[in-house]
Amino acid sequence: MEKGSELKDVNLDIIFHHISDLIFQIRVIDVHHYEIEAVNEAYLSNYETSKEAISGRRIEDFLGVDQGIQAIKRFQEAIIRKKTIQFEEGYSFPKQGYKLFDITLVPLVEGGSVEKLIGIAKDITEKRMNEEHLVQSEKLSIVGQLAAGIAHELRNPLTSLKGFLKLIQFRNTDKDIDRYVQVMDSEFHRIEQIIDEFLILAKPTKTNFQNNRIDLILDEVIELLSGQANMKSIILQKEYASSLSPIYSESNQLKQVFINLLKNAMDAIGEEGEIIIKATERKEHIQIQVIDNGSGIADEELEKLGSPFFTTKKNGTGLGLTICKRIVKKHKGTFTIESNEGKGTIVTLNFPKIYST
Ligand SMILES: Nc1ncnc2c1ncn2[C@@H]1O[C@H](COP(=O)(O)OP(=O)(O)OP(=O)(O)O)[C@@H](O)[C@H]1O
Ligand SMILES: [Mg+2]
Repeated sequence: MEKGSELKDVNLDIIFHHISDLIFQIRVIDVHHYEIEAVNEAYLSNYETSKEAISGRRIEDFLGVDQGIQAIKRFQEAIIRKKTIQFEEGYSFPKQGYKLFDITLVPLVEGGSVEKLIGIAKDITEKRMNEEHLVQSEKLSIVGQLAAGIAHELRNPLTSLKGFLKLIQFRNTDKDIDRYVQVMDSEFHRIEQIIDEFLILAKPTKTNFQNNRIDLILDEVIELLSGQANMKSIILQKEYASSLSPIYSESNQLKQVFINLLKNAMDAIGEEGEIIIKATERKEHIQIQVIDNGSGIADEELEKLGSPFFTTKKNGTGLGLTICKRIVKKHKGTFTIESNEGKGTIVTLNFPKIYST
């Protein structure tokens, strides 16, 4: 019998030291003071410390004042309730940075008072990130489906409006009204184009990938936005040659990307500034950069960029960059943003090159 229980202790010891959860035993000095008594290997390696350096240390001395107080509050809760408590809490680590844990604290009661606390902390950072990512992509797909539905529904009333417009055009003899009708007609055409482009984007199955000349795509986008840029005294500077290798792409979708990037750059400038649209041939890819000298992006906001619905604009949807990233990914490209607050922003896209055999 004794042998059996010895073996069990050895097994428990192995589990204690090899489990990936962080396990710690705390000695309760009094309700405000706690000492680390023992921790497992996972705990030591996360904090990059040794058994000798940690045992006997006060919790606030080891974790630092802020995180120490955070931990002590939880210890006090377990002591007052004299029951196991479970909660989620974040802690910072020397090298790995911030991590989120699912923590269980077990108070060990001896003679009516809590003498020790055993804690088990499970790292749930990645799990939570994946969950958030899933929620965001679901949100996005719902918005996409809704918007696609709306775009589709808009076509019917648009067709009847166009029909009546043709009728007016046909019957009308007044020159002024003729001018108005022409403007309306071209505006209708533009609405139709937007709806078509949107539907192409919303239905990823109906794509038409071809070898496209990137200089022509960029020319078209710049042409489209040059009126707006002119009005705001923004110079659109082209820095690309017509000799670039083609990109295997869906031209409408690439246009959508560049329209959004240029619009963002123009918004960041406001009035008077310069946007450089640069394309260069690299060994294995074509690199395209949109460089603006606008307001730039603060460091803390840079990481939120491209998350669905993140916007700093009054009328922004915060979907522009999300859609850009999605399209670039579909083209097996990469997307990076560098920014200097107050100085400007550089968006860099890399697309794989087509090799002619
Ligand atoms: N070139 C840039 N310079 C400065 N900030 C930028 C730039 N590009 C994007 N941003 C910031 O990123 C945010 C998100 O951009 P995104 O294109 O996704 O959405 P939006 O422009 O706000 O809205 P929408 O594109 O739907 O009109 C912007 O609100 C802006 O704060
Ligand atoms: Mg935008």
